[in-house]
Amino acid sequence: MIETRLTRAFGLEHPIVSAPMALASGGALAAAVSGAGGLGLIGGGYGDAEWLETAFRDAGNARVGCGFITWKLAQQPHLLDAVLAHDPAVLFLSFGDPRPFGDQIADAAVPLICQVQTIEHLDQAIEAGAKAVVAQGGEAGGHGATRGTLNFVAEAADHLTRHAPNVLLLAAGGIADGRGLAASLMLGADGVLIGTRFWATQECLAPVPMRQAGIAANGDQTIRSSLPDIARRLDWPAPFTIRTARNAFTDTWEGDPEGLRQQDELPAAYAKAFQAGDADLAPPIVGEAIGLIHDMPKAGDVVTRIATEAEALLAGAWRR
Ligand SMILES: Cc1cc2nc3c(=O)[nH]c(=O)nc-3n(C[C@H](O)[C@H](O)[C@H](O)COP(=O)(O)O)c2cc1C
Repeated sequence: MIETRLTRAFGLEHPIVSAPMALASGGALAAAVSGAGGLGLIGGGYGDAEWLETAFRDAGNARVGCGFITWKLAQQPHLLDAVLAHDPAVLFLSFGDPRPFGDQIADAAVPLICQVQTIEHLDQAIEAGAKAVVAQGGEAGGHGATRGTLNFVAEAADHLTRHAPNVLLLAAGGIADGRGLAASLMLGADGVLIGTRFWATQECLAPVPMRQAGIAANGDQTIRSSLPDIARRLDWPAPFTIRTARNAFTDTWEGDPEGLRQQDELPAAYAKAFQAGDADLAPPIVGEAIGLIHDMPKAGDVVTRIATEAEALLAGAWRR
């Protein structure tokens, strides 16, 4: 067993947290990860009260947390009350300034985890009272920014050692197997946050054809852009862009985002394609780690597999 500050702080068997992936991480996925000894997070995403209630119901008695997209939560802060009323294992915030929410989360005695993309974000997370921060590299699936995971995690570890040594650190972006977990611990992280690997599991809510199309891609075949956000008319602030698989849609509009903005019919067609799993129009939301993923197992088996592989590596299997 790999025991770290993270496993001790949250009573986990393995230092593995599943990402709160909007419209992908429902209650069943989060519960499966927690049930296998990791920490599962519901993807509260853009915030839909009814969807959140269903997700917590689907999680049953499992101890799960919940994540929000911070800039969107700021537009509908009442959703935080609703989620805190479920006494989640953690409240996770990413993409925006978490400081306005810090006191309310602390008053509810719920640990706060903030995902950060820059050192400036890291300082905001410390000020917000985060118990743990996730240093997210640009390799990640979904929204993020541009730092490389390898050096950003190490720099965040140094920064925390100097300025906030009690704040725990997780690594995210490009981690999909035991190698990624073992390497993250070497960089100074207390654990990992994993999205794409858990997206390609049985419990994920994305349509099966969408997941199959994603798994078929290799790590070269992803792109970080604003194209899906333009198509969805989502007003994401800088510096955040979204990494997805490449497809006919991204190939068509990669050089012409302004042209995409003029396509009045597209948002409805895109939303329909996303729901139906039409991966030629709506690209699968995956990171570069998709090149390490070739199957769609149960989420609990992913937790066990990653932990077992990392344990063996740390015990000496890295020697060749
Ligand atoms: C399908 C998908 C949806 C995501 N949605 C969210 C989200 O709603 N909120 C969030 O904080 N992060 C989201 N992320 C990013 C994850 O939190 C995490 O940083 C990322 O998955 C880590 O990199 P990896 O995909 O290489 O494991 C999403 C990632 C994926 C793959």
